[in-house]
Amino acid sequence: MIATDRLRMLPLKVEYAGEMAKVLADPSLYTFTGGEPPTVEALEARYARQLKGPGRADEQWLNWVIQHDDDLIGYVQATITSGTAEIAWVIGTAWQGRGFAKEAAQGLVTWLQAQNFVRIIAHVHPDHTASAAVAAAVGLSRTDVVEDGEYLWSTERQAR
Ligand SMILES: CC(C)(COP(=O)(O)OP(=O)(O)OC[C@H]1O[C@@H](n2cnc3c(N)ncnc32)[C@H](O)[C@@H]1OP(=O)(O)O)[C@@H](O)C(=O)NCCC(=O)NCCS
Repeated sequence: MIATDRLRMLPLKVEYAGEMAKVLADPSLYTFTGGEPPTVEALEARYARQLKGPGRADEQWLNWVIQHDDDLIGYVQATITSGTAEIAWVIGTAWQGRGFAKEAAQGLVTWLQAQNFVRIIAHVHPDHTASAAVAAAVGLSRTDVVEDGEYLWSTERQAR
């Protein structure tokens, strides 16, 4: 569990799928990332896959749901490969605009740095100002590298 002032990041469980399907139900959440609201069943299957992991020894998937008071409000994730952690964040529409994404992402970055992941990266769509603000707030810098239409952001200024 990773705790910040207002939030708790709880390691993913399949049982969260019912409540998370409601958090992820707004189609506008998918404007910049693609995809669509998942059904409970699809989310259960996704969570089971995520918990099983990639099945490759050199890669690890870490997933948390974000809890505020008694509500689940979003999720953060980190994909770990050879010293690099790629992070992503989603906050349900009802809870956006209150600094929760920044707070959750900062909690995750602090935790990853404590585990000695020196290189932390994220991919952000060029038009996604809210997500760019989150990336900048947690110490990532935008590189000039574009992958699948998204900028690579990194704790290292020089992309590798
Ligand atoms: C990106 C996202 C996580 C932001 O969540 P949030 O909790 O509203 O973000 P915060 O409240 O921490 O605010 C982060 C910044 O975005 C800005 N922001 C928030 N909503 C915004 C909006 N609709 N348009 C523009 N900027 C916005 C805030 O002003 C803040 O920047 P500032 O502190 O410099 O002013 C949320 O919009 C989301 O989940 N979107 C859909 C999923 C997604 O695209 N995830 C990102 C994949 S990289």
